[in-house]
Amino acid sequence: MSRPLQVQVSATRMLTQAVREFTFTPCSGHLPAFSPGSHVQVHLPLATGTLRNAYSLTSDPADNRHYRIAVRLQEHSRGGSRFLHREVQVGDTLQLSAPANLFALHSTASLHILIAGGIGITPFMAYIAALEQRQANFELHYVYRQGQSDAYVDELQQRLGTRLHTYPQRPDLNRILRERPLGSHVYSCGPQPLLDAVRQQANALGWPAQRVHWEAFSAAQPGQPFDLNLLRSARQLRVGAEQSLLEALEAAGLNVPNLCRGGVCGQCKVRHSGGVIEHRDSFLSPAEQAEFLMPCVSRGHPCVSLDL
Ligand code: FES
Repeated sequence: MSRPLQVQVSATRMLTQAVREFTFTPCSGHLPAFSPGSHVQVHLPLATGTLRNAYSLTSDPADNRHYRIAVRLQEHSRGGSRFLHREVQVGDTLQLSAPANLFALHSTASLHILIAGGIGITPFMAYIAALEQRQANFELHYVYRQGQSDAYVDELQQRLGTRLHTYPQRPDLNRILRERPLGSHVYSCGPQPLLDAVRQQANALGWPAQRVHWEAFSAAQPGQPFDLNLLRSARQLRVGAEQSLLEALEAAGLNVPNLCRGGVCGQCKVRHSGGVIEHRDSFLSPAEQAEFLMPCVSRGHPCVSLDL
């Protein structure tokens, strides 16, 4: 796993009452290049331990003098967004993972249809910069709640004109997706019900699956504490209520490959045996779940044995 990037918070601003934007500049050297749709994991040193939350990069991929992210305050999560909203100030130093992309643009598309719900606008900010530079054919459909989740609306209105379509509630997806040019791709990012609706509508209209792309919001959720038995290293660990299984392994010095930390990328797959597993991922099939679990999101009780 590559070493974390050291960055300084060089600017922050509130985009809405609930969304704060951060600009990061490198403490030394250069930031790695990234492609539209990439995310970074931000290391958040909470009193209960370090969280690593994934956030999409919103800045222009052609300009890697800085990175930018926008974070929606989630009052009822494990505290990562609260820490970023309430504790982090300009001048602070943070660690980031190198960018990774699980939601790439398809350069061959004849038309890019972007559908964002609320804070799901974030990956599309980098998309839009790249699409404008390529003079590509695209349109943005943006569903938001005014004053809460309408980040970047004014900027987008000025920048995109008639390419921007805004909605106070879920739009008529049939209208957006029917009779589009051959070679169109649709991308959606936002709450799961919106993603499901886009996929169902595209499927009903006969869109090939390889032209329908989505990125879900996903993150570890708290649960009951439980015990871990690591079979190969003969170690026993405890997973705290606010900690993910992956975080407990990392705190014990074990490196498990990971990208999304939200149960969608498949990187962190570990073989399990024993215990009752509460699978919370969206990657494994039911047959695979009998053998593997995704420690970034899944939990278990009373004691889970892992092939580690
Ligand atoms: S890190 Fe992506 S599924 Fe666990």
